Amino acid sequence: MTIGIDQIAFDTTTLFVDLRDLAQARGDEPDKYTIGIGQDQQAVVPSSQDIVTLGASAASRLTLDPARLGLIALGTESGVDASKAAALYVQRLLKLGPWVRAVELKEACYGGTAALMMARDYVAAHPDRQALVIAADVARYGLATPGEVTQGAGAVAMVVSAEPRLLALSDDSVHYAEDIQDFWRPVYTDRALARGKFSTEQYLRFFNLVWARYKATTGRGIADFKALCFHLPYTKMGLKALRQVLPEATPAQQAALSSAFTASAAYSRRVGNLYTGSLYLGLLSLLEHASDLAEGDRIGLFSYGSGAVGEFFSATLQPGFAAQLDAAGTLSRLDARRRLTVAEYESVFNDKVPYGPADYEADPALFAGRFVLTGVTGQERQYRANA
Ligand code: CAA
Repeated sequence: MTIGIDQIAFDTTTLFVDLRDLAQARGDEPDKYTIGIGQDQQAVVPSSQDIVTLGASAASRLTLDPARLGLIALGTESGVDASKAAALYVQRLLKLGPWVRAVELKEACYGGTAALMMARDYVAAHPDRQALVIAADVARYGLATPGEVTQGAGAVAMVVSAEPRLLALSDDSVHYAEDIQDFWRPVYTDRALARGKFSTEQYLRFFNLVWARYKATTGRGIADFKALCFHLPYTKMGLKALRQVLPEATPAQQAALSSAFTASAAYSRRVGNLYTGSLYLGLLSLLEHASDLAEGDRIGLFSYGSGAVGEFFSATLQPGFAAQLDAAGTLSRLDARRRLTVAEYESVFNDKVPYGPADYEADPALFAGRFVLTGVTGQERQYRANA
């Protein structure tokens, strides 16, 4: 039985800041941000948007069959509750019906991959059912921090089923885990802590480890891949990983893999870091930008979650896969976003749901998107579909 990704959709906020503006405000060279980091724009998140609203918005772009849906698995590292799964809010907002498992998975930027693999196993055990996988995050490091240039937000939602129309997941995953302290977020804060340089070194080390073992266990090599997609906390990070393996390829394939990487980085350059959704935004970007993809092409995917877990696996394009994509729709939503000044971005960044028991009201002037968090009353988050 073939199991894989039947549908995929993405959503982000309606506001962004241009990174050339940000570089100027921080006294940095714009080229550092656009070339050295590899980012052009960054999603800005009003307090009325979080992983629930973004995840629900992305999932609302899929065609779900409540009668077949058996699992909602939401991966995130910016969860809104230390106990309750955000998947339950999404289930209600999308009216998905009660006969499902609804859970949240956490392991930094790897949570979405854990959700995807759980969904694959679920469908293997229940071939008639489908699973909804959501990878959603708000990446926040803080104003004028080294990590600021690698912030962003958004969600990728996928339907996993038997006989998928987009991508078949191969049974070839290689995963590696090790307790390291490269990036983490204590429960009392919404801002991530990172040992920046160390985290980039660990990302590359984990990629080397799983790639070497993947080749040894599967007998496949770089020549078997049409494209490689990477977790993209910022696009230069993925480029560094790609450059580690390019010497294994012929000159012609090096050019093809580099061109595929550019296609996979296009959306991330405009949105920034989705943490656990970044790998899948890269996959969507590849599928919606590369013009030479064909049925049967194999795509390699490297997932990395700080802390840390790394996984390499592959998927193959299915017949008629292009009918499952909507490049024009994704691009028009990105183009329709409002560009903020740096002062406006800082003001939006600082207006946040408090980490405390006080009631809170989000600014209705910034209500946008399909779903909003209107506020917090009596320590309970209030969500609704946007009017
Ligand atoms: N023109 C062109 N390039 C320039 C330049 C200029 N004028 N000025 C600097 N650069 C280049 C630098 O040479 C450097 O390139 P290389 O990495 O290829 O050498 C690049 O711009 C960045 O410069 P710095 O290293 O000086 O940047 P920094 O010290 O400000 O920090 C960072 C960069 C470590 C990524 C920081 O943004 C950070 O801490 N980010 C958060 C942590 C992170 O994203 N880690 C990634 C791995 S962990 C992970 O993947 C999980 C996750 O999602 C968090």
